[in-house]
Amino acid sequence: MTREDATLRVGDGEYELPVIVGAEDEVAVDINRLRATSGVVTFDRGFANTAETKSAITFLDGEQGILRYRGYPIEQVAERSSFLEVAYLLSNGQLPTRSQLDEYVDEITHHTMLREDMKHFFEAFPRDAHPMQTLASAISALATYYPDALDPRDPWAMDISMKRLLAKVPTMVAWSYKHSCNQPYVYPRNDLDYVANFLHMMFSFPVEEYEIDPAVAKALNVLFILHADHEQNCSATTVRVVGSGHANLFSSVAAGVHALSGPLHGGANQRVVEMLEEIVAAGGDIAPFVARAKDRDDPFRLMGFGHRVYKNFDPRAQIIKRYAQEVLEKLERDDPLLAAAMQLEEVALQDDYFIEKKLYPNVDFYSGVIYRTMGFPTDLFPVLFAIGRMPGWIAQWREMAQDPTTRIGRPRQIYVGEGKRDWVELEKRADRS
Ligand code: ACO
Repeated sequence: MTREDATLRVGDGEYELPVIVGAEDEVAVDINRLRATSGVVTFDRGFANTAETKSAITFLDGEQGILRYRGYPIEQVAERSSFLEVAYLLSNGQLPTRSQLDEYVDEITHHTMLREDMKHFFEAFPRDAHPMQTLASAISALATYYPDALDPRDPWAMDISMKRLLAKVPTMVAWSYKHSCNQPYVYPRNDLDYVANFLHMMFSFPVEEYEIDPAVAKALNVLFILHADHEQNCSATTVRVVGSGHANLFSSVAAGVHALSGPLHGGANQRVVEMLEEIVAAGGDIAPFVARAKDRDDPFRLMGFGHRVYKNFDPRAQIIKRYAQEVLEKLERDDPLLAAAMQLEEVALQDDYFIEKKLYPNVDFYSGVIYRTMGFPTDLFPVLFAIGRMPGWIAQWREMAQDPTTRIGRPRQIYVGEGKRDWVELEKRADRS
């Protein structure tokens, strides 16, 4: 779809720029040829205004709080599907038939084991290593075991790599956790579904099987689904950019895990719980934390609040909040952190600072409270986000790799450094310290 061209005037020059219109009437000015025709580039910090790709995977409207996977509203997807069904949908574009789903699940299930040598890989890491670093390294290492299936232009290699990655990530996470606790590794079980198998590998012992609570498995399934894709966010963009240089899937996704690990992105769920623990330990008074978040001279931010795109509400946060309450009720737990989170949300949502800046709870605000109740340690929360996001990264990478119009990701810059100057010999340099 196209609309009339846009006109850009810079100095004496006037340039016609094509306009692109998306399926949901999003309008973009195509500047792809701008520098070639005018010598001018655009400047856009943090890509806040830049669509780098056309994508048919996820639609989100931050003003209205809409999120859809392949057209299906997130509320319906979360309520009705399984995580692997969502993974299929995101990658293939359509809901699977019963036989397609059975075949897909069967293939994933039969790739969950790691090469036995990989045990030594986990042992090489310190027991207190952050699990996001270990996961990124483990995903990188997968490429070394499958050198014949790495070419992003080979459809067979692409397909088997996507399945291996999705299948093996829970095993890698569980084994890195077991190593951190100095406990024996627990092997995957093919009679369990994806989420139940992950819980089994995390919490079972060779001497005692972990009893999977259906309420916990259901909530984790929903959490994974809610994290499954979020269009062109920091980590998905990283995956695409790394892949645009024809790096293999494992290398591209390992880079995505690193991008996700930051506290402004997927690392926020860990920071939220640490912040709530601090609030509870300090007696539960919310006010000083809200005051600090509003103080321009204080770098402190309310973790789990704010989002680049959502300016009304984050639909994922609303679903997670409901689940947090339900899970705690079902498990008959009373968590002071949930109470603190709800109080903090209430105060912030009525505060002019947060109203003016359109800051609302994001996906990370309530997820940590549920993970904690399920028995996951705090530093594992970003890793749970990464397991959930795996289908999205895979689908985004695949779309990028299959798109004939993909070009290597290579932004421009505005140089603001020194002008040309002559080299000064070491002895002649003035001391500037
Ligand atoms: N607490 C206090 N103030 C905030 C917060 C917050 N959590 N978030 C944003 N603001 C303020 C900023 O200081 C800024 O104020 P200013 O206009 O006076 O300078 C304004 O709101 C806009 O914030 P930006 O940082 O410019 O917004 P941006 O879109 O670049 O960043 C981000 C979004 C990173 C999510 C930010 O809101 C944040 O740091 N939140 C806390 C961390 C967090 O929860 N991250 C998870 C995000 S969801 C995800 O990635 C999975």
